[in-house]
Amino acid sequence: MQFPAWSESQALEVISRTCDEPGPVLVTLQAVQTYFGYVPDAAVALIANACNVSRADVHGVLTFYHDLRTELPPEVSIHLCVAEACQSMGSRQVMEDSRKAFVTNSSVEIRDAYCLGNCALAPAASVNGNLRGRVSAQSLVAEVAKL
Ligand code: FES
Repeated sequence: MQFPAWSESQALEVISRTCDEPGPVLVTLQAVQTYFGYVPDAAVALIANACNVSRADVHGVLTFYHDLRTELPPEVSIHLCVAEACQSMGSRQVMEDSRKAFVTNSSVEIRDAYCLGNCALAPAASVNGNLRGRVSAQSLVAEVAKL
């Protein structure tokens, strides 16, 4: 995925859109990450200032949620569901096989997810945000090859 380079002025524009919403810190962190692909250190002070909270508050939220990231994501991000329905359909094995298949590919990350809302097509995954069902390590390798 391509994201724009960090820009303080652009970050302030993004931040200004969300700081008045309920739960402003989390919403603003998500907005910054959606725009830039991650939340750089420089954004923490900007968010704290705009949302009128401490840097520690922003840092606490940033480090609590594992989907928030402080570094640019790799080219391909796979979220593989390991919640109950998907586990019952073999997602743990898909996870293990996929990690082996991509072990030498640093442009691919595989992360756990807990229900992607696609339980009827378990095991489910999302590849760069695109929902997939009945996945296997082979189908994920084939999909990544197309990207
Ligand atoms: S349990 Fe995997 S998508 Fe719902």
